[in-house]
Amino acid sequence: MIGVKPVPDDALRIDLGRLLSRIAALGEVGRVNGPAGEWGNARLALTDADRDGRDLVTGWMRDLGMEVHVDRIGNAIATWRGTDPTLAPVMMGSHIDTVRTGGRFDGNLGVLAGLEVVEALQVAGVRPRRGLQVAFFTDEEGARFAPDMLGSLVYVGGLGLESALDARDSEGIRLGDELHRIGYSGATPCPAAAFPAAFVELHIEQGPVLEDEGVTIGAVTGVQGISWTELTIEGQSAHAGTTPMRLRRDPLVVAARVMAEARMIAHRLGGAQVATTGRMDVFPNLVNVVPSKVTFTVDLRNTDERILQEAEQTLFGFAHRMAADEGCDITMKSLARFEPVEFDPEMVELVESTARRLGHSCRRMPSGAGHDAQMLARVCPTSMIFVPSINGLSHNLAEDTAPTDLEAGANVLLQMVVQLAQR
Ligand code: GLV
Ligand code: MN
Ligand code: MN
Repeated sequence: MIGVKPVPDDALRIDLGRLLSRIAALGEVGRVNGPAGEWGNARLALTDADRDGRDLVTGWMRDLGMEVHVDRIGNAIATWRGTDPTLAPVMMGSHIDTVRTGGRFDGNLGVLAGLEVVEALQVAGVRPRRGLQVAFFTDEEGARFAPDMLGSLVYVGGLGLESALDARDSEGIRLGDELHRIGYSGATPCPAAAFPAAFVELHIEQGPVLEDEGVTIGAVTGVQGISWTELTIEGQSAHAGTTPMRLRRDPLVVAARVMAEARMIAHRLGGAQVATTGRMDVFPNLVNVVPSKVTFTVDLRNTDERILQEAEQTLFGFAHRMAADEGCDITMKSLARFEPVEFDPEMVELVESTARRLGHSCRRMPSGAGHDAQMLARVCPTSMIFVPSINGLSHNLAEDTAPTDLEAGANVLLQMVVQLAQR
């Protein structure tokens, strides 16, 4: 590494106070207070709150002297030039959109820790050979516009720009129009013309394993496969008091059976298989009316692609049979489908060896959640660093991580990036 002031690697540390104050400030944008004093965020992608978060973070990027480019799908990528401009940069980052009842750390940590790494190096007077980039990608959550990881998927060329811009939310609002409205329809081409030398994403685990085992750092080996399907069942709206049971065509009964079966399938398959219904719309949604139409989602995930396909086939076949039994029509739409991803073994090894060198306990683990890193893995060596989630909670206002764990994760990120940027 070439620095204006050479510093021994292990002397470099992030500043926890600066990191915490940026996390707290971003957390105030779209803040949601829970009933028991917990608080988190509602910054659904491309809402006014998302714009305000973007404005804050890009302001910090510019304050650090980074050059900020926004691409055509709204991904923001800030670059701090290295001493050798011919070399591809090392990228850090994640997302700053949240689910409607999100925490302050999911995604935000990876972006703000990236800025902290840059600031720590600047304060130490160390300029790496490779440039450093900090990115936040559009609509990682997929909670408003499917699929999830949409911005990073377009960035790597896995989804056409035009079809991504044409994605609609549940109200029929077009993603491209919202991007324009909030002022983040940038000019930089997407997919990117060139990719980073490596990508590292620091993220909270969002599950209970690290806390349960008392381990500080997760070296993430890959991301499990994700299958999102929207099912629409249509029957016959009728009077709840006058219509005999045998003459009903009730789509909500079909939906209930399918949801219960999804859970049974997950239990039967065991292992990593999980199944969730998180969204359901019932029409007309009234106490004394047999519904006419129900739309709901099923989220299936597994680390094993073959078993994930088995879960899909079993569930979809069951749904068709249940709809036919009730005299209902059924349609299914795939919202997202990603096969399991394995991260670059050398990058995983680098997370583990760096964590241990800094004196932290570390274990290898797959990610249960989707991440932008799984898209970046298509174009460059990629890995993720996990830190524990208190009570294993995420996608929850009460999401939290101990400051000492945030510090440990950010220092592993710093030391990894220092090593990658001198190669
Ligand atoms: C996205 O972050 C997901 O895992 O649902
Ligand atoms: Mn996330
Ligand atoms: Mn999330």
